[in-house]
Amino acid sequence: MRTTYVAGNWKMNMDREGTVALVKELVAQLKNCKNKVMIAPPFVYLDLVSQLVKGTNILLGAQNCAATDNGAHTGEISVAMLKDLGVQVVILGHSERRYEFGECDELINMKVTRALAAGLDVIICIGELLAQREVGRAEKVCERQLNSALMGVSKEQLSHVTIAYEPVWAIGTGKTATPEDAQQIHSYARKVIAKMYDQEAADNIIIQYGGSMNVKNYKELLAQSDVDGGLIGGASLKAETFIPICNG
Ligand code: 13P
Repeated sequence: MRTTYVAGNWKMNMDREGTVALVKELVAQLKNCKNKVMIAPPFVYLDLVSQLVKGTNILLGAQNCAATDNGAHTGEISVAMLKDLGVQVVILGHSERRYEFGECDELINMKVTRALAAGLDVIICIGELLAQREVGRAEKVCERQLNSALMGVSKEQLSHVTIAYEPVWAIGTGKTATPEDAQQIHSYARKVIAKMYDQEAADNIIIQYGGSMNVKNYKELLAQSDVDGGLIGGASLKAETFIPICNG
């Protein structure tokens, strides 16, 4: 039985005051939550959030990390720094990193292997563009992204990996993949994992859906047999829209 895992990706949102208020509310209201919950605030609020979630059942995530160790890399944040702040998980390969900041498969793989080697858990985002879906290439795109992101990742390390299927055309657009569309890609991604590792690894890996998941549609999405949770953007910024999804 796979655990349901709901993660909030705050992206470049919130301020200090809003962060404190939201995290305090999440801590109080989710203390008996049976599912796994993570929040990923912007880097500048990680230390603050780390102190607020310490000793609670809420995991602390970062939205990115550097592909290199500490050194002369202006503007970057290393996995060592994240660990120093109590970060447990890092989101990698998000489509906003791929398409806004030009992150390629190779760079994402470098980040994945570095984060895992340092003992962080990772959420690897995959997902096709609308144009790729329209020409029937959604599965192939996701397969390529998985093959590449997981290069050099051992089966043991894979237990620290979560996959997030985030169709790019559904992110922040209000357009959600239908539960059937999501199920189809999730099931395909699981087959890819079985091919790369084995059936046990495929059965155990958690695959989240992301892309306009909200209080209205989460139940139907989570009801799909291969949808094991959500990676939530907009709806993770308010307690009243995030908590119901966390409780799944
Ligand atoms: P939205 O939920 O705002 O569509 O964002 C999804 C996402 O990109 C989470 O990483």
